[in-house]
Amino acid sequence: MDIQGLIRAAHAATQHARAPYSGFKVGAALLCDDGTLYTGVNVESSSYGLTICAERVALFKALSEGHSGFQAIAVICANRTWCPPCGACRQVLWDWARDITVILARDENDYQQMKLSTLLPHAFDNGYLLHE
Ligand code: THU
Repeated sequence: MDIQGLIRAAHAATQHARAPYSGFKVGAALLCDDGTLYTGVNVESSSYGLTICAERVALFKALSEGHSGFQAIAVICANRTWCPPCGACRQVLWDWARDITVILARDENDYQQMKLSTLLPHAFDNGYLLHE
């Protein structure tokens, strides 16, 4: 996996972040098992709670174009602070990309990688819905 390329793609995406309220511009780059790359940025709403994070935008772009099976997602903030995925993104990634590697980056030479299961232990999932 070209981790540095993934981080560069996430950082390039931050230029399109729509963050007029927080000023916190986030970019994500999602690598599918077949090598396809999707980027995402945070898109904020005047009704703040409707804001969507960069990670979910990247994932929803990929899912809506028929992809399943994801290797890694890189997340970076334009101001180079760490940006761990929020709880909502962890849950949605768990639902659709359970085995994914999450790469938190400040730049292409300063990053940490971890499995999503480390970020979301004891997760809820659809298995709990399927009882008699
Ligand atoms: N944000 C993301 O895009 N990803 C994260 O992992 C954390 C937070 C966005 C949401 C909001 O637009 C801004 O960062 C401040 O919370």
